[in-house]
Amino acid sequence: MCGIVGMLAKRQVAGILVDGLRRLEYRGYDSAGIATLVDSKIDTRRAVGKLQALADKLAEEPLSGTVGIGHTRWATHGRPSVDNAHPHFSEYVAVVHNGIVENYRELRKELEEKGHIFKSETDTESIAHLITDYLRQGLSPQKATAAALKRLEGAFALAIIFAGHDDLLIGARRGSPLAVGYGDGEMYLGSDALALAPLTNRISYLEEGDWVELSPAGVVIHDETDAIVSRKVHETNLSGAAIGKGEYRHFMLKEIFEQPAVIGDTMAALTSTDNHLSMPPVPFDWKAVPRLTIVACGTASYAGLVAKYWFEQLAGLGVDVDIASEFRYRGSPMAQGGAMVVISQSGETADTLAALTYAKEHGQKVLAVVNVAHSTIARQSDCVVQTLCGPEISVASTKAFTTQLTVLFCLALQAGLARGVIDEARVSTLLQALREVPAKITDVLREDHKLQELAQHMADAKDVLYLGRGTLFPLALEGALKLKEISYIHAEGYPAGELKHGPIALIDESMPVVVLAPHDNLFEKTSSNIQEVVARGGKVILFTDKKGLANMGTKPYWVTTLPDVDPAVAPILYAVPVQLLAYYTALSKGTDVDQPRNLAKSVTVE
Ligand code: F6R
Repeated sequence: MCGIVGMLAKRQVAGILVDGLRRLEYRGYDSAGIATLVDSKIDTRRAVGKLQALADKLAEEPLSGTVGIGHTRWATHGRPSVDNAHPHFSEYVAVVHNGIVENYRELRKELEEKGHIFKSETDTESIAHLITDYLRQGLSPQKATAAALKRLEGAFALAIIFAGHDDLLIGARRGSPLAVGYGDGEMYLGSDALALAPLTNRISYLEEGDWVELSPAGVVIHDETDAIVSRKVHETNLSGAAIGKGEYRHFMLKEIFEQPAVIGDTMAALTSTDNHLSMPPVPFDWKAVPRLTIVACGTASYAGLVAKYWFEQLAGLGVDVDIASEFRYRGSPMAQGGAMVVISQSGETADTLAALTYAKEHGQKVLAVVNVAHSTIARQSDCVVQTLCGPEISVASTKAFTTQLTVLFCLALQAGLARGVIDEARVSTLLQALREVPAKITDVLREDHKLQELAQHMADAKDVLYLGRGTLFPLALEGALKLKEISYIHAEGYPAGELKHGPIALIDESMPVVVLAPHDNLFEKTSSNIQEVVARGGKVILFTDKKGLANMGTKPYWVTTLPDVDPAVAPILYAVPVQLLAYYTALSKGTDVDQPRNLAKSVTVE
């Protein structure tokens, strides 16, 4: 959600800043801009739309300079326009910002009364004028920034340059992530390590309230009291190569096809080849935990909902799954010593992070399932089990979801074993079932042309219903979310048993009803629901296995037959055709699959 970069070097920075923004474009793509110092004066280029519009503008009107900042925007305050695009600037200072300044109206009023002229509708511009005001009072850039930071309320990551100071770049963090990159004779700022991947793998992460001065003399980090502090330098294993589309048309398709490999990698880190668990110890005693709370947003919360079934069935452990944005404000009572699992691909989702903070303040031990290794959520949790799916660039999450399921399944087995609900033999059988999933996904991927054909039948739909029972109910929610996000078709996920309690009123011949129903112990029940839909002229699109097909009374409109799989791990396999269906439907509608309208990956504001 808004990406920022900054660079201080001896070479020209404009092109390198744009390359960095390309790797952050998944965070927002309604406008972009950069600012550098040209002859020590602030100069900017900004453009509305995708980053390419900025690149085109720079080709026509190049920008020189060896220090600069860049931004790709996901609008919060003010519609996408050149005036609202970052950087925001005065004669003295230029600022890029990720986050929301909550007291900007009050600041703006105060600064306007002092004669500052605002040119945008954004909250960010108040930061530029506030720093300018302190500079005019004679403060140094460092002191002016420190003074301004103390006046800001809300969440932010900032990168700032100053007219007349070609050797200075300042960054600050409160609530939104910011990484400092150490190069060879040059230094960088970025919203994440990925932005800086081709430039350096030596990264420090600012802590809450930190601000940093980058100059040829080196890096000086201050905490919120302005005291100088040191922050660990991490070596990342990211490379620029990891974020190409390869032979694929879209990142989403590439990431769908990576799933057999990344599920295998994630499983290999948590299990031995002879089907024993080799998990990191959790920060609580599974036997003593009375109930587990799982908190996440969006797709990650649906992974949590699948895990609820697993923990309850395999470990006899009751689970509450909560949407982070609801949990954080509800004031939920939590017994001291309780356990929480947070799930997040990015590890930066603002609501999930706030839920984590709440839980820790209320005496909970927190285990995080995250993909980005040194993310804020990873750093603030008591224990991390990483999904090893590599960078996920497509805004619609796919491989993060199935690797989250892989980790959560292993955690449920660990809990089940510790609580004496299942034994080693059962764990071994279930791990063998999980081990076979990647090959079965490969079989599904080999037949993806069939889903492409099915997508032609979905593309004209106005509404689509997704149904499932048990662990396939969260998959129905996930299928509907994927379709909504990238094809803009309205879709709803429902537990199949709820059909008669309302949604059946929607059924007519124009509405596809996607049913996810492997032949498990709930199949007969779902099969009855299918009859009810067919009897009302509904268009059932059934995802099942051979046995399911053989036992289907009525012939659905369309059947996709999937490989047989142990019901315990079925949601991991069934995620893939559901993703492909959304992908191909979006493709046939001609939408922007990797960067769907209004969305951004990594939601770092509330
Ligand atoms: C959907 C999607 C989102 C994310 C959600 C949480 O395709 O990607 O719903 O799952 O924003 O993001 P993370 O996992 O980064 O916390």
